[in-house]
Amino acid sequence: DWVMRDHIAEALVQIRQQVGVEQVILGLSGGVDSSVAAALIQRAIGAQLTCVFVDHGLLRLNEGDMVMDMFAGRLQARVIRVDASESFLSRLAGVSDPEAKRKIIGGLFIEVFKTEAAKLKANNAEHRGATFLAQGTIYPDVIESGGAKSKKAVTIKSHHNVGGLPEQLGLKLLEPLRDLFKDEVRELGLALGLPPEMVYRHPFPGPGLGVRILGEVKKEFADLLRQADAIFIEELHNFTDPATGKTWYQLTSQAFAVFLPVKSVGVMGDGRTYDYVVALRAVQTSDFMTADQAELPYALLKKVSSRIINEVRGINRVTYDISSKPPATIEWE
Ligand code: XMP
Repeated sequence: DWVMRDHIAEALVQIRQQVGVEQVILGLSGGVDSSVAAALIQRAIGAQLTCVFVDHGLLRLNEGDMVMDMFAGRLQARVIRVDASESFLSRLAGVSDPEAKRKIIGGLFIEVFKTEAAKLKANNAEHRGATFLAQGTIYPDVIESGGAKSKKAVTIKSHHNVGGLPEQLGLKLLEPLRDLFKDEVRELGLALGLPPEMVYRHPFPGPGLGVRILGEVKKEFADLLRQADAIFIEELHNFTDPATGKTWYQLTSQAFAVFLPVKSVGVMGDGRTYDYVVALRAVQTSDFMTADQAELPYALLKKVSSRIINEVRGINRVTYDISSKPPATIEWE
């Protein structure tokens, strides 16, 4: 629509004015906000933007390739994919405390990103001088960091964000989504040509599967979880609620599988199995501060369960999480 076209035109002019002939670096995660920011900035300044996509090895099935296809492929953006999965896995070895895991993942993420940003800055130094760091900060993030957060006496979970990073890197900030609410960001993304699957994606935590594998993170566990999770998400898209005409993916705010590192006995063919368990989690919420477990249709749960058990060798039991937040949280760690 014309309001959005106007808004885009204005944003493009503003970005070009602010950036001039300088270079911009953006940390691409595959999430909605950084994706829309990347698409917008790319439209404004093309090859002056370099996206850095840090793959920590804890992404969902095919996620890294999808991000690359979209940005390097369809949008023709400059994207550096850093495959850091081995570093992440080796630093996580033997660590099972959730907060310790979060700190390791968040810290290493920033380390890897900084190294890439410093390389790019050095490459550009003699030609272009200073450089910008672009972030997909949206209006609710701006409000949240304005003090409301400090009211909380206890940290339930430490979320990693890149606060202080621009100063440390000697970069200026570019935040073209700062005035927008989430629904406006999605609309902007669609108008910029991002596919609805990307724009309406459920949120995914920064530490990724690292907080969905209970206890110690191992590659073997991540591989099993990725397969189970992909089946769950696929079936949420396949099942439609007749009353609303919406899919169960659309009717839930967040849904995913969780890997439980315990083994239970099962039977398959004429053999006994002794394999791992996954839990399915699906919630409905408007603000993620409180949430209700989704009342998924039993037929959907049955389909997902039988597919996971039949298709994922190494998992022989599937459970459904029926806890609300509070007292449970959405993620299991
Ligand atoms: P909880 O589990 O606290 O999750 O009920 C609320 C929302 O926050 C997301 N979440 C995170 N996001 N880094 C993130 O970027 C994190 O460490 C993190 N922990 C939880 C969670 O996915 C849910 O949407």
